[in-house]
Amino acid sequence: MKNTIGQSITFTLFGESHGEAIGGVLDGLTPGIEVDMDFVKKCLDKRKGINALSTPRREEDEVEFLSGVFNGKTTGTPLAFIIRNKDTKSADYGEMKNVARPSHADFTAEMKYMGFQDYRGGGHFSGRLTAPIVVAGAIIMSALNKKGIEIGTHIKSLGTVTEKSFNGANADEIKTIFEKDFPVLDEDMGHKMQEEILKAKEDADSIGGVLETMVTGLPAGVGEPWFDSLESVMSHALFSIPGVKGVEFGGGFEMCNKRGSEVNDSLRTDGEKVYSETNYSGGINGGISNGMPIIVRTGIKPTPTIGKTQDTINFKTMENTEIKGKGRHDPAIIHRAAIVVSCMTAITVADSLALRFGTNYLTDK
Ligand SMILES: Cc1cc2nc3c(=O)[nH]c(=O)nc-3n(C[C@H](O)[C@H](O)[C@H](O)COP(=O)(O)O)c2cc1C
Repeated sequence: MKNTIGQSITFTLFGESHGEAIGGVLDGLTPGIEVDMDFVKKCLDKRKGINALSTPRREEDEVEFLSGVFNGKTTGTPLAFIIRNKDTKSADYGEMKNVARPSHADFTAEMKYMGFQDYRGGGHFSGRLTAPIVVAGAIIMSALNKKGIEIGTHIKSLGTVTEKSFNGANADEIKTIFEKDFPVLDEDMGHKMQEEILKAKEDADSIGGVLETMVTGLPAGVGEPWFDSLESVMSHALFSIPGVKGVEFGGGFEMCNKRGSEVNDSLRTDGEKVYSETNYSGGINGGISNGMPIIVRTGIKPTPTIGKTQDTINFKTMENTEIKGKGRHDPAIIHRAAIVVSCMTAITVADSLALRFGTNYLTDK
């Protein structure tokens, strides 16, 4: 469905970086979900990132609801909203119009949209388009929280720095991360990561890393095998985020080279609940949630636009040339992408819950 994702709860994304506005439409939401604007604002602020580590582009990100919200709650009709683009400096991009930034979407957009694309600021492929994902995801996330489902994302590794993983049983870790400007479990590692970002910035370069997301409180039995298995829909959604180059669940690729006896999750019960002692499966078996926390890691590549001179092409004159990033860019996007990944996960998990238990599962009523 191109710019729409989901089956029962659908989310449509639209806009360009330097166009009039960006926005989204959430359809299939149950009536009665509280639209907590303080929470939405807090999530949007996280996406903006910390000043010294992030793009100097400063947008207010003021959300204007067009439909679907009445007296602070969802009505159940399509919830449409826009965020106007205000801090645009399109002149920065004029002379680069036909020169493709290496590893950005300039050349591929030209191939698909045949020269009609709005190229300014990366157009439809700008990280700015992740703001509506955060608005939609934050609205859904507060509804999920009321059902005891928590979602959080931390930076597992950045450059050469790696921090510990989620404990796996501790939903408090999610709350702790949410209160931090830089989403890590270990403050010391967080400082080291920030130093790496600043070093990359000094070198007119960029750096990437891996995010780790945990979902707690999701009941067993959610997911629609084969083709809408929980892993399939989650990775589909996560790979849609610009800059994402890998998604793995639980023990991931590392586990795949081991023996079964080393990584099988032994099942246990206390007479009522079923749980496993380890969670190499990342909370999913057969594409269906097993009641353990969902663990998913998302690889975020280094920001493609950098201040160093790189080889590229002019795709109009078909000549080889060079490019040096102008415009306003992040030396790293990973700390900003963390909330985007959490919000995208919220949208997907809510859709899978709605398919399993019905759309009204998330109502406040
Ligand atoms: C929150 C966020 C901010 C981003 N900011 C930038 C940026 O400032 N400069 C840039 O070149 N890419 C940025 N990106 C990444 C590009 O949008 C992305 O690499 C590009 O669209 C190509 O897509 P791909 O990397 O998935 O192939 C950002 C991505 C996200 C998620």
